[in-house]
Amino acid sequence: MVSELKEDLQNLLNDIISGISNSETPSELEDIRINSLGKNGSVTLYLKNLRNYDIKTKKEIGTYLNEIKKQIIKSITDKKNLFKKKYLKEKLKTEKIDISLTPYESDIGTLHPLSRTIEELCAIFADMGFSIVEGPDIESDYYNFTALNISEEHPARQEHDTFYLQPDIDGQRKVLRTHTSPVQIRTMEKIDLKNFDEIRYIIPGRTYRSDHDATHSPMFHQCEGLVLGKNINMGHLKGCLIDFCRTYFNESNLPVRFRPSYFPFTEPSAEVDIGCKKESDGSLVIGEGEEWLEILGSGMVHPKVLYGVGIDPTKYQGFAFGMGLERLTMLKYGIPDLRPFYDCDLRWLKHYGFLPVDNPSLHSGLNGVFS
Ligand code: DAH
Repeated sequence: MVSELKEDLQNLLNDIISGISNSETPSELEDIRINSLGKNGSVTLYLKNLRNYDIKTKKEIGTYLNEIKKQIIKSITDKKNLFKKKYLKEKLKTEKIDISLTPYESDIGTLHPLSRTIEELCAIFADMGFSIVEGPDIESDYYNFTALNISEEHPARQEHDTFYLQPDIDGQRKVLRTHTSPVQIRTMEKIDLKNFDEIRYIIPGRTYRSDHDATHSPMFHQCEGLVLGKNINMGHLKGCLIDFCRTYFNESNLPVRFRPSYFPFTEPSAEVDIGCKKESDGSLVIGEGEEWLEILGSGMVHPKVLYGVGIDPTKYQGFAFGMGLERLTMLKYGIPDLRPFYDCDLRWLKHYGFLPVDNPSLHSGLNGVFS
């Protein structure tokens, strides 16, 4: 009787184990578990029927049944783990992240044409040994005007259409800088005259004037340049700026003209014009032609400005220049209107923006790739 029972149980166990090993899905496995160990499962029923046997059989078969139960639970757990591994493997195979996907195909943003111009200027001037510095947008009256030899009653103060901030406690009115020239003063103040040979800086940044039409915006951008050292002369100024204009506009024979002018912080001062031709449709072509276009202001740093920052003008001389970046950008890339520069219109940015991965350098070329 006991041996017969044991044989039946052994057969049952073999069936269940082979069912487990042949199961192909977790739900098949779950069915086997329910059919064997569940409330009305085959093994459970044997356990329930134990009470019909005598004590000895009960004990022997009871132990045997528990052993069988343990084996079934173990092989179900093993099979479950196998399913888990298989599932993970398949997931890894099918859920690949293709990191080689080229960004050109996706809808990436573009670099604003002004940022592109700043990068181009940095590349050109870095090649001539210039470093790049920045200064604050909110300036004191002293740095924006006084230190640049622009006196209280000087008409330049009115010409600049300055935005003034509320006066602070001691009555001083801060200004939104009207040009990047105040950073010239800030850089010269930092010079350690004991260890000083020469400095070359460009200073790109935002500037502000109360002015708004197709060619003026209340916030615009300039780039300042400053070279200071011993024996710096007008020849250096001319060579540097002619080189800059020809490189920026990619025209090795671009005509460049220096026209006498006036700025309070330079003496002598010159405005720089480049040659261009007016087409019959009114558009401008940069290069040889009978027209001239003014693109920047420049001059030799005024001795009074040097005195003001404690530099002896009989020992050191320098030249400076300043240019409007919107104008340079519009001319180079044929953008007719200044206003959309700040409208955040994605269609405009898509049309005039540049690929952000295309870094300008003198070696790879300065003509940016439009997006
Ligand atoms: N700051 C001048 C302006 O905004 C531009 C300028 C002219 C800057 C001559 C200079 C310079 O450094 O030398 O109109």
